Amino acid sequence: MSRSSRKRSTSDLVVVANRMPVDRVVDDDGEVTWRRSPGGLVSALEPVMRANNGAWIGWPGDTGSDIEPFEDDGLTLVPVTMSEQEHNEFYEGFSNATLWPLYHDLVAKPSFHREWWESYVTVNQRFADAAAKFAAKDAIVWVQDYQLQLVPAMLRELRPDLRIGFYLHIPFPPAELFSQLPWRRQILEGLLGADLVGFQLSGAAQNFVRLVRQRVGHKTHRDAVYLPDGRVVQARAFPISIDFAGFEELARSEGVTARAEEIRRDLGNPTKLFLGIDRLDYTKGIYARLRAFSELIADGEFSVEDAMFVQVATPSRERVDQYRLLRDDIDRLVGRINGDLGRIGRPAISYLHSSFPREEMAALYRAADIMVVTPFRDGMNLVAKEYVACRYDSDGALVLSEFAGASNELRQAYLVNPYDINGMKARMLEAYRADPKDLSRRMRAMRKTVAENDVSHWASAFLDALSAVQPTHSKSTRPARRS
Ligand code: G6P
Repeated sequence: MSRSSRKRSTSDLVVVANRMPVDRVVDDDGEVTWRRSPGGLVSALEPVMRANNGAWIGWPGDTGSDIEPFEDDGLTLVPVTMSEQEHNEFYEGFSNATLWPLYHDLVAKPSFHREWWESYVTVNQRFADAAAKFAAKDAIVWVQDYQLQLVPAMLRELRPDLRIGFYLHIPFPPAELFSQLPWRRQILEGLLGADLVGFQLSGAAQNFVRLVRQRVGHKTHRDAVYLPDGRVVQARAFPISIDFAGFEELARSEGVTARAEEIRRDLGNPTKLFLGIDRLDYTKGIYARLRAFSELIADGEFSVEDAMFVQVATPSRERVDQYRLLRDDIDRLVGRINGDLGRIGRPAISYLHSSFPREEMAALYRAADIMVVTPFRDGMNLVAKEYVACRYDSDGALVLSEFAGASNELRQAYLVNPYDINGMKARMLEAYRADPKDLSRRMRAMRKTVAENDVSHWASAFLDALSAVQPTHSKSTRPARRS
């Protein structure tokens, strides 16, 4: 990866996200290098960012000393640092113990602390200051996700010439839940600094517009909010997606094909392999799904020779209490299920608490007959779409929660209510016993949907809509597109 200290220049397209698109790697000699992280967001935005001298402002993932902005393969990367206390209060606290559970249907109880809110304001201001500094005149700035909801208004205050977009990757709750937040008005006003506020689903956009009308008192009509200064803010749905072609290509590669066979062999060639891949998060419904699977074995519907469940749980937010408790709960459940139902060399569940590179994920998707994605609430869920992209033979079954945003598009999945264990058992069994022709019909339809609506489609739909917004303070240009 080419890297050099940056020349001081500004960018026509600035992305502001809590995470940077690179990971900081310190080798044995203490030398620091950066490795491009394989997120869908950065690959989708890369072409348009390169064409616009793009800059990415983000947190490098640790606390400590300031790091100078640098160039990486044509992108300007601007690290925003935070102190240990800010990490506790802004990231673990307000972002992940207040907003995260509040925005996910109160699956866990949110904590409200005034010091956490103060850190949220301080860190948001730091991101806004960095964006103001690196954005060229009339540039487009695209702010990402719940950690940075105050940035749009803070940035507009500093730089009224900019065209500002905001995209929320997680659900936006109905007024009845959102109204618990002591700082509800400030968050709404923060978002209203944007010209375009994007959500996963149209229901979320409607929740936002309704709240703005009720709590801030602005006039609204459909997806538009009319501000007293004449500015119009649009709130619309842009369902996010994945690099469909990239995943399919990876899935077809020799290395992944061989690895998928090896995985099945190592597991003792079960007749049917069930798979779950999630961040270890209480919104994902891992506990209920493993219980449902184990009950199917206990009920005698199939044996541990017939079926095995591989559950990958990627470590996440490990210092937040609720995540720690969840890990203990899952450890205990898996131990109990395997103790009760497993045989020598045949556990019912193969549980992996670790994160894997894309190649290994693709091999797991290829190896699995039934993918089980059962969150209690999820903005989209890209794992479901990745599984579909990897099934190029149009085989395999997807069991999918009605409460994942992806269920809006993947209508041919085996849809389940994750709160209904018996219902989940019935659908998992249906997928297990399904006729290959039926599976193929479902998978073909889902593949068509995801192929036609991939992540570059998502990025251009958002940026085109943002470019089409009539600027009130300045004239602005569309971002140049690479052909
Ligand atoms: C979700 C959020 C992202 C977040 C990611 C990983 O997908 O929408 O904003 O980056 O989870 O969580 P983390 O706390 O590790 O950034």
